[in-house]
Formats: sequence, C-alpha cells, structure tokens
Amino acid sequence: DLSPSDLAKDAAARAGVALVQDGMRLGLGTGSTAVFMVHRLAERIRAEGLRLRCAATSRATCDLAGQLGIHIEELDEIGWLDLTLDGADEIDPDLNLIKGGGGAHLREKIVAAASDRMVVIADPTKVVETLGAFHLPVEVIPFGVETTIVHIRRLLDSLDLTHRPILPRQRDGRIFHTDEDNLILDLSLDVITDCSAISSGLHAIPGVVEHGLFLGMCDLALVGAPDGSVIEMT
Ligand code: A5P
Repeated sequence: DLSPSDLAKDAAARAGVALVQDGMRLGLGTGSTAVFMVHRLAERIRAEGLRLRCAATSRATCDLAGQLGIHIEELDEIGWLDLTLDGADEIDPDLNLIKGGGGAHLREKIVAAASDRMVVIADPTKVVETLGAFHLPVEVIPFGVETTIVHIRRLLDSLDLTHRPILPRQRDGRIFHTDEDNLILDLSLDVITDCSAISSGLHAIPGVVEHGLFLGMCDLALVGAPDGSVIEMT
C-alpha cells in the first residue's frame, strides 16, 4: 500500500516516463521519486520493447536500473542525452531548483547539463514560492574542508544571509561521502533571494565542487497528486 506522498510521486513518475519515446537517450535521476520512475520505465521497456540508451546520475540508480533489467551506459559512451527525468527538493515558480538531498547533485547536474531537456518529477511538497527552506547542499573536496567552510561563511555574511554552523553531512552517525568521495555541507539559509549571487559566489571558492542550485536548467516540472492527477509547471 502506497502512502499519499508515494502515490503523488508515482503519478509524477508515470507522467515523466510517458514522455519517453523509442530510440531516446535518457538520463535517470536519483531519489525516491526517481525510484518510481525507474520502475515505470522498466515496465514500459518490457511491455513495448523500447530501445533506449540510459545513463544514471548515481550508483544507487545504476544498481536499481540493473536489477530491473535496464542497461546503463557511461554518460561519455552515449555522449549527449535527449531527456533527463529527475526529482527535486524544491521547485520555484521559475523552475529553479534545489537538489542534492540525496547527495547526488554533482552527477545530476552534469547529466542534466548534457540533456536537451530536463524534466523534474515531484510531489506537491516540493513546490515553493522562494527557494531556501530546504538546506542547500554543497559538495566540497575533503582536503582543506575547514578553510572551505571559512570561505563559505564569509560569502554568506557578504550576502547578508543568516546561517547556522556548517558541518559535513552525516548519515547513520558517520560522515557521508558522495559517489565522488567528496563531502556535503548543508547550508541552512531559510530564504535564498539572490540565487545567482550565491551560485557564482560558491563556484568561486576553490574547494567547492558543485552546489545544489539548478538555475535555468529545468524545462518542465510534473507535479503529481495522490489521486493520480499531474500538474505541469512550465
Ligand atoms: C538527490 O541528490 C536529489 O537531488 C534528489 O533528486 C532529490 O533529493 C529528490 O529526492 P526525492 O525524490 O526522494 O524527494
């Protein structure tokens, strides 16, 4: 039995998978909504014999796809993608996103940037007026992480953004490492008024690999509801 939230995610996932056409080169996202999407995609491949080329945004998605019989290739083997289907942690009215709740935003951003179209699949809790209530994940290399944190604090102060102590993300009581063996710093900012200032400021810090703001990358958001209906945000 699926919870209302899972029904909403599955509705969005189905609508996303309905955009897939035979012969497409696809990017497969990460997270709980993407899990529904990978299942629905596997069903369509089985039922319709679709010939697709698929790249994954994480080891977790690669493993799940493999278990369901979807062959995953390296992004560089495929070269460029027609469509990426991925979840999001927050979606604003301009389709700017926060991603990285699962720590996969670096590969997700590389895959989305290598796609003609990025379509987000989500439940209604992800839709916000202004980004920032969800923490902003920043992937950093472990070397010199304390000095990287000092740079990030100075940046946030210069942008008048209040913030709480910045510590590497933990999971199950241990420091979390990404697929690239980096660390994640989660910035609690509450409200991000100037997304591009924080984006460029973070990119200018040497130890920062990538942050979870996806600005101007999403082409369509499909927001599912527990009753199976789906709203399109463009
Ligand atoms: C993974 O790092 C994230 O970017 C996910 O895409 C995002 O957290 C959405 O996940 P859910 O579908 O589980 O909400």
